[in-house]
Amino acid sequence: MYQLLCWHGKMLTRRGGKVARGRSTPEQVVTTVIAIYAVVVHLNAITARSPLGTDHLSKLSQRYMRFACEEAAGRSPYYEGLARGVATDEYVLRFLYSLPTEKQQPNLLFAAFRHLFGLKGGYEQFRDTLSENLAAVRTLMEGRSTQTNEPARCAALLPVLCLLPQPLALIEVGASAGLCLLVDRYGYDYGQSVLHPKPEHDSYPVFQCTVSDGTPIPTTLPEIAWRAGLDLQPLDAADPAEAAWLETLVWPEQEVRLRNLRAALELAARTKPHLVKGDLAGGELDALCAQAPSDATLVVFHTAVLAYVEDPAARRAFAAKVSSLCDYWICNEAPGIFPEIAKRASAVQTPGTFLLSVNGHPVAWTDPHGASVDWIADDQEFLKRPGRTA
Ligand SMILES: C[S@@+](CC[C@H](N)C(=O)[O-])C[C@H]1O[C@@H](n2cnc3c(N)ncnc32)[C@H](O)[C@@H]1O
Repeated sequence: MYQLLCWHGKMLTRRGGKVARGRSTPEQVVTTVIAIYAVVVHLNAITARSPLGTDHLSKLSQRYMRFACEEAAGRSPYYEGLARGVATDEYVLRFLYSLPTEKQQPNLLFAAFRHLFGLKGGYEQFRDTLSENLAAVRTLMEGRSTQTNEPARCAALLPVLCLLPQPLALIEVGASAGLCLLVDRYGYDYGQSVLHPKPEHDSYPVFQCTVSDGTPIPTTLPEIAWRAGLDLQPLDAADPAEAAWLETLVWPEQEVRLRNLRAALELAARTKPHLVKGDLAGGELDALCAQAPSDATLVVFHTAVLAYVEDPAARRAFAAKVSSLCDYWICNEAPGIFPEIAKRASAVQTPGTFLLSVNGHPVAWTDPHGASVDWIADDQEFLKRPGRTA
């Protein structure tokens, strides 16, 4: 099994020694399918003699294999290696299974491990250290969650925000520390266009973003009249422990991302975006919308949040509610979150890519960390405002 996974890793990295970030080749897709199939067969063999039954361990295994192939490949060789190892390691899978479902994520396991022990060798060392310190890892995983706040996602949101009638009142759902609310305080490098915030904001990150032909590249920053965020557990960028956890959530090897995160955290610690504690399904969102100035375009957006809402009916209920509350609902999530929207997207997506939609219209495929925008909207239908009903 291990040899097969190594072969799969090699097949994925054949092109120029590293995994291409563009679309997967047919060869890569085939090898990924074979690797996932082999893991399933392997796990079936393990779980045939497991009191947990086939389903639980093999689902967890597939989840880690998908993470390795679709999310970490080409972005973090270290996490890719760990995830491949976990996918075929019954001992670690059993440990994960003993945690609540929402705590079984690869990102949470690997961040908790790094937070406690830093970067350690390869999979064998990871496994040895983990098995000697299960209680400490468990405590951290139970106490924290993956609230990865990625301000670079603003680069993917900006083309849409700049097309809307200004000024904007921004509400972010699932804001974490509110870094994506500071969209007008950062710099952006789109290649043909480089934007900087007003001179008074002296220290800021600059996000690089590759854009496809047809992307409406912003030439000025949006005018934000008012902003607020909502989160189950808002984080305070000025709190060193919370900032340190957010830093650990950045994947190893991603030094530019980490540097930019630190700069954004400093900015947020100074500017303190208004964050409210609450569930996206509760009344706090309605209350925030009611507080927004009526002479600004009310935008509610979220990125990398709805995967935490497992019930598709609850997601649809949220979509219906948010559409009635604001002028523009911007959704930047994995395409499986709203399959009915993804079905209307014309282009083929790269595994792991997010779909950016506006009021239910697909407009772009975006890199999940904001590094690219592949524009797919062929008209500006999405700018037609349906009008709020609430
Ligand atoms: C992965 S983070 C993304 C943060 C930010 N949107 C970004 O893109 O950088 C997801 C955030 O959603 C929040 N969240 C998850 N479920 C939520 C819910 N039901 N209501 C409000 N916030 C939620 C989590 O607490 C977490 O801070």
